[in-house]
Amino acid sequence: MIRQMRNADIPSAMRLKHAAGWNQTPEDWQRLLRLEPDGCFVAETKGVVAGSTTAVRYGSEMAWIGMVLVLPEFRRQGIARALMQHALDWLELRGTHMCGLDATSMGKPLYEEVGFVSTELIERWERPPEGSPGRGGRDSARCIGTLSAALEQIDREACSYDRSRLLRDLCKDSSVTGASCAEGFAFGRPGSSAWFVGPCVAKNARAAASVLRATLESRQGERVFWDFLPSNRSARELATELGFQPVRRLERMMLRGGAPPTLHSHSDEVYATAGFEFG
Ligand SMILES: CC(C)(COP(=O)(O)OP(=O)(O)OC[C@H]1O[C@@H](n2cnc3c(N)ncnc32)[C@H](O)[C@@H]1OP(=O)(O)O)[C@@H](O)C(=O)NCCC(=O)NCCS
Repeated sequence: MIRQMRNADIPSAMRLKHAAGWNQTPEDWQRLLRLEPDGCFVAETKGVVAGSTTAVRYGSEMAWIGMVLVLPEFRRQGIARALMQHALDWLELRGTHMCGLDATSMGKPLYEEVGFVSTELIERWERPPEGSPGRGGRDSARCIGTLSAALEQIDREACSYDRSRLLRDLCKDSSVTGASCAEGFAFGRPGSSAWFVGPCVAKNARAAASVLRATLESRQGERVFWDFLPSNRSARELATELGFQPVRRLERMMLRGGAPPTLHSHSDEVYATAGFEFG
């Protein structure tokens, strides 16, 4: 049975993500439920939450599918396919024009089957605890109270869809820190196995370096993940300079027929994505 996910399902959802070795926390699930309370789904089999899928809409232009997870003992029974189809039907009813996701090699065959095509690579880079100079850095990253309308506009142009609800949610969350300047911003948040830096969007490499350095300053001596599109050479250079190394490669996929030619026209301004579940 597929039904809407509720806050009470978060412990079961954490078991799902734990079985896959992912980095999300209960707060990440809560954020998904806050952003799209009707678009997060679980599959229940004999009273067990066996699978999940989330769909977050960014205006009417774009939706992002994430958290496609099935417990190992329930795999290859069509649960993920049913969850995906349910989420896609739900989005279609709401008139969403485009739909994207970041696919693992396990998920890719299923996504191709339901109509997604690969558009580019996305990489996870990691800075191991010993990759930074050690604890005691100047803590210039704070909760960002609000992002200016100009920074929200920079984000919209870089992504070509409206993530302002996500950005505002991150601004309000006391566990999320970050830094901003006139030309860009970066956020960071805790993960269950590593701190996660992102999203970061900036008009140029200088602004990106400034907000990312400030955001990372207080995380010295900690393991940190950073996801970005390797086509952004400046992000790659900066990640290398800051002690990160590539550890995983996924494929960014879009639902066939949905993406207009302008998609990602300013993607070189995206220095860190918001996470595989948010885009
Ligand atoms: C990927 C995942 C969600 C698939 O869940 P599932 O319930 O087993 O998938 P389904 O049974 O609905 O499979 C649908 C189709 O996808 C493809 N597929 C699923 N798992 C596959 C695998 N391990 N290898 C190759 N193809 C696979 C097959 O075409 C399958 O159809 P079939 O069983 O009739 O051949 C599950 O393996 C999982 O949780 N993996 C770990 C987390 C992950 O990587 N999630 C994807 C994130 S992008």
